[in-house]
Amino acid sequence: LSSIYVDVSGVEVGTQLTVKWRGKPVFIRRRTAEEIARARSEDNAPDMIDHLARNANAPADADSSDVNRSMDEAGEWLVMMGVCTHLGCVPIGNGSGDFGGWFCPCHGSHYDTSGRIRKGPAPENLPVPTAQFSDETTILLG
Ligand code: FES
Repeated sequence: LSSIYVDVSGVEVGTQLTVKWRGKPVFIRRRTAEEIARARSEDNAPDMIDHLARNANAPADADSSDVNRSMDEAGEWLVMMGVCTHLGCVPIGNGSGDFGGWFCPCHGSHYDTSGRIRKGPAPENLPVPTAQFSDETTILLG
């Protein structure tokens, strides 16, 4: 299947780029320091629903720690499929929902700043697709 290169040089901190890949939206978010800190401080929150990273670039049994979901060690870049794991709606981003991440309006699923499901009917974290930086400002999907 096809791979695509995405130029992320214009993505400011605190904003998100949505691209279409293999017919589905992919969210590429450049997180703020606050978003990263919040995601990491909530790694062991008791309301965590899905304890797996769901990251195609990590081992299948990697846990849902934020560091296992972000692209870079500092955690600035988060790349995920923009497809709710309940019934496939596209969640709203930019700090939406009770956990400051994404909110799916279809049936009320709340995802945190790491894209982890925290409340609502969705069973799994938003999946991280196969992705890597091909240079400092370009992400290769697939
Ligand atoms: Fe997102 Fe149902 S499709 S909550």
